[in-house]
Amino acid sequence: MESATVDIRNSIGSIPDYPKPGIIFRDITPLLQNPDAFRLTINTLKQRYAEQGITQIAAVEARGFIFGSALAYAMGCGVTLLRKPGKLPGKVTRQNYELEYGSDELQMHENALTENDRVLIVDDLLATGGTVIAASQLIKSSGADVVEAAFVVSLPELGGEDKLQQAGVACYTLCQF
Ligand code: PRP
Ligand code: ADE
Repeated sequence: MESATVDIRNSIGSIPDYPKPGIIFRDITPLLQNPDAFRLTINTLKQRYAEQGITQIAAVEARGFIFGSALAYAMGCGVTLLRKPGKLPGKVTRQNYELEYGSDELQMHENALTENDRVLIVDDLLATGGTVIAASQLIKSSGADVVEAAFVVSLPELGGEDKLQQAGVACYTLCQF
């Protein structure tokens, strides 16, 4: 493993039986509290995407907002918010999805993106892939291109990477559990 991957992986916490028995919750809060690990995370992503003509980062509520906003600031591009129901004030497009422990809906302002946008999806963690598939459907329905989906953590046993591959969405993850 590359040393950046090791340092980032070592800064993720693991909490057994949260939020339900049998789930190991991979916790990003230790990474966020460690300035070196947070900077390394954002700089590693910036290095990968700096020359790819990204116009907007689509950040997924809530933990994706943290990484997506920091990366957008570092790269000099905009942030498009993909939010849970009832949070965006304007007209929205919406997409339902299943989670590892429940189901939910993502919404995006319907005029947020155009066919000229090249969009990077950013979230903290890829589990079953339901959230990011919903995110890519919202973005593609606006006519914009989804360049890739980037995650700090992936849980390969839950099948998200395979689901993304089947959906034709490229994916990049900084570390796996
Ligand atoms: C978590 C995580 C991802 C999603 C991944 O968010 O931050 O967005 O689950 O799961 P999936 O790949 O199975 O779809 P959650 O919905 O728990 O919301 P939060 O960020 O608001 O806590
Ligand atoms: N979101 C979905 N599954 C998760 C997990 N195991 N840890 C942290 N966030 C998650």
